[in-house]
Amino acid sequence: MAPVSAMCSRFMSPRKILVTSALPYANAPLHLGHMLEQVQADIWVRFQRSRGHQCRYVCADDAHGTAIMLSAEKNGVSPETHIANIKALHEADSAGFGISFDNYYSTHSPENRAWSETIFRRLEANGHIAVRSVVQAFDEAKGLFLADRFIKGGCPKCKTPDQYGDNCEACGATYSPTEVLDPVSALSGTTPVERASDHLFFQLSAFQALLADWVDGGHLQVPIANKLREWIDAGLQDWDISRDAPYFGFEIPGYPDKYFYVWLDAPIGYIASHQNLCDRNGDDFDSYWQPGHDTELYHFIGKDIINFHGLFWPAMLASAGLRQPDAIFAHGFLTVDGTKMSKSRGTFIMASTYLEHLNAEYLRYYFAAKLSPNVDDMDLNLEDFVQRVNSDLVGKVVNIASRCAGFLRKRYDNRLSAVCSEPELIDGMISAGDSIAALYEARDFQRAMREIIALADRANQFIDDKKPWLLAKEEGREKDVQDACSVGINCFRVLMTYLKPVLPDMAEKSEAFLGLSLDWTALTSPLEDHTIDNFSPLIQRVDPESIAAMVDASKA
Ligand code: MSP
Ligand code: ZN
Repeated sequence: MAPVSAMCSRFMSPRKILVTSALPYANAPLHLGHMLEQVQADIWVRFQRSRGHQCRYVCADDAHGTAIMLSAEKNGVSPETHIANIKALHEADSAGFGISFDNYYSTHSPENRAWSETIFRRLEANGHIAVRSVVQAFDEAKGLFLADRFIKGGCPKCKTPDQYGDNCEACGATYSPTEVLDPVSALSGTTPVERASDHLFFQLSAFQALLADWVDGGHLQVPIANKLREWIDAGLQDWDISRDAPYFGFEIPGYPDKYFYVWLDAPIGYIASHQNLCDRNGDDFDSYWQPGHDTELYHFIGKDIINFHGLFWPAMLASAGLRQPDAIFAHGFLTVDGTKMSKSRGTFIMASTYLEHLNAEYLRYYFAAKLSPNVDDMDLNLEDFVQRVNSDLVGKVVNIASRCAGFLRKRYDNRLSAVCSEPELIDGMISAGDSIAALYEARDFQRAMREIIALADRANQFIDDKKPWLLAKEEGREKDVQDACSVGINCFRVLMTYLKPVLPDMAEKSEAFLGLSLDWTALTSPLEDHTIDNFSPLIQRVDPESIAAMVDASKA
């Protein structure tokens, strides 16, 4: 996993790190669950950059598949127009949350076509592709093979009508679509027929030993490794990687009218997006994807797509002669107020709806305060959200600056003391940076935030003890007021440096206020004899009315 150099980056050469988050499907706008993932990855990426490492973050829209083809048809536009429209929405949502992608691309790209073909040809040349006939439900009215979720009918167990082809919402049973009572196509309402067609399979079973090693290699969180090991021990099934026309995707070279299944070319989209970036910025693409280099590769994903990233992807990369990821970082699912996000309760919150009502940095902080390296689900409790943001960010962190800045402006022309009066306090805060960095590195943002807020408590305690507002009224205590407030501003500088990966916007405003750039690697000594700018509020308190308005808007 993370090399030892992470701990003492100041003395080591910069690491070269490539980070991805899962490619959102190009058929709906992003919701807060997507943002949990992008914010988690972005905080880690910004942390790495702040430590002086070269860290690239690429992503893309996942643009292929039947669902996207059908959405486009329903909207009366071509799939190309549909995915371009959605991509623009996704990019605006991510930008609104401060996600610092180096490239946001699409799987429907020339680079991705080329890489998908190349990788497929290598798998085929290695004897890892088999062709087998598959019998599947076919909708004669639409001329389409039907995936399980496009078949509806009665539950074979409890007989409830109008259930999906693979599971029953009434009794929870799972079954195969051939067992469904009176099946109909969800697309046309006609009764599907059975039809045989040739499919291409990737022989995952050939990678049993490689995957067993990989799963034990420390690249995965423990519960994820355990789950994958169970699947491997049960024996790996070959993976169906083709779909018949009509399909929106890439045609398979040498197999007319057969298309790559969307999940074949989706992870290859990581490579394609990165190549597109390298072609523009001159980074050395090969050193990231050919084996044997000292670059690092990490994928942030949700726990629902671990089979694709933990089994199929490493096997494909191995067969294609490409490098393996260093780690896969899986996270749990976001719930709101204790339950699955729900449209009727107004808790299925779209990223854009949130942004219309609330500052993105509130949520970035809240997520950070609750994110750990494990795969537990995370609850966004709206009351706790208001309370925590107001108490920690406004009440503790910003408070330090706002309590000190006024005196410095009115009496000292915004000049900090020539010599720091509390060097131990500031040095202590600076040396806490190593353990905070180790927590960020380990994606233990929850504990990192706790340590930072404990430092903020210490700073506020110092100001409470010194009481500059009383000193200011006493005669002959001029220097003491300046000293106390300068120490406060020094504390604020250190804290905002540590919070910068989480709060890029607030950090930028703080940089303008402090008249310097908040640079983790430059935190060596207190600021002395330094002029700051006038203080203006860095962030407003969360207004509970805005939460109510957002929930209302989400019910619409
Ligand atoms: N297109 C695939 C990923 C391909 S990656 C090569 C996909 N797309 S998705 O839009 O359904 O999900 C994108 C990411 O968001 C996934 O990692 C998924 O786990 C995550 N989340 C979707 N809903 C989520 C929550 N409610 N909570 C947290 N993450 C969630 O899967
Ligand atoms: Zn049932």
